[in-house]
Amino acid sequence: MDETEKSDLPEVIPTHIAIIMDGNGRWAKQRGLPRVEGHRQGAESVREIVRCAGEAGVSFLTLYAFSVENWKRPKAEVSTLMRLLARFLRDEIAELNDNNVRLQAIGRLTDLPDFVQKQLHESILATSRNTGLTLILALSYGGRVEIIEAVQSIIREVQLGHLDPAQIDERVFSAHLYTRYYPDPDLLIRTSGELRLSNFLLWQQSYTEIHVTRTLWPDFRKREFQAALNDYANRERRYGAV
Ligand code: IPE
Ligand code: IPE
Ligand code: MG
Repeated sequence: MDETEKSDLPEVIPTHIAIIMDGNGRWAKQRGLPRVEGHRQGAESVREIVRCAGEAGVSFLTLYAFSVENWKRPKAEVSTLMRLLARFLRDEIAELNDNNVRLQAIGRLTDLPDFVQKQLHESILATSRNTGLTLILALSYGGRVEIIEAVQSIIREVQLGHLDPAQIDERVFSAHLYTRYYPDPDLLIRTSGELRLSNFLLWQQSYTEIHVTRTLWPDFRKREFQAALNDYANRERRYGAV
C-alpha cells in the first residue's frame, strides 16, 4: 500500500477482525448461476481482504469459512466447498508467504476430509515462520461445541489433579478454547445483511463491535473493508462502564 492509501486508513485499527463471510449462494442466484459459482467468487474476496487486512496493520483475521451446521447442506455443495478449500490452501501458500501471513485454523478439524486436513497442515507449516497477519480459518467450527470441548478438557484436568476447581475463572476457561492463542475479536463483520451470530465465537465476542453490511461476500472488497474500519474507528467501547 502506498502512502496516500495509508493515509486513508483511520487511526484506530482493530487488532482482531472476525468475519462471517455470508451470501455466496444469493450472489450466484441473482446471476442465475449455481451456488458453487458464488463460493468460487467468494474465494477472490478472501484473497483481497487478507491482503487489505495485512496492509492495514490488523494482527489477527478470523474467517468463518465452514460451520458445524454447514455439514447439513447437500452433499454436492459440501464436497465442492471442500475441494475449493483444499485448492485455495494449496494455491495461496506463495502469496501468504509473500505477504508474511501466518495461517492457522480452528474448529473440529478432524471432521474435515483427509485430503483437506493434509493440505491444511501443509499450508500451516509452510507459513508458520511468518510474522505479519495471522489468518485463522474457522472450519467445521461451532461456538457451542467449542465451549463443550473446553468444559470436557477442564474436567479432565481436574480429575487428573492438575487443576483446582476453585481456580477456574474466565482466563482459565479462555485458555481451553480453540482460540487460546489469540485475543478476542474487536470487530465482527457480517456480510449479506443477516442479523445473527450463527454460532460463531460465542464466548469470545461478548464485547465485540458488530458491523453488518448488505453487500454479499463475493462483492465485499477493499472499499467495503475500509468502510468497516471507518465504522469501527467511530465506535466508543465502554465494556459496561460509563
Ligand atoms: C457463505 O455463503 C459460505 C458458506 C456458508 C460456506 P452461503 O453459502 O451461506 O450463501 P447464502 O447465505 O446461501 O447466500
Ligand atoms: C454462517 O453462514 C457460516 C459461515 C459463513 C461459514 P450460514 O449461511 O451457514 O448461516 P445461517 O444459516 O444464515 O445462519
Ligand atoms: Mg448463508
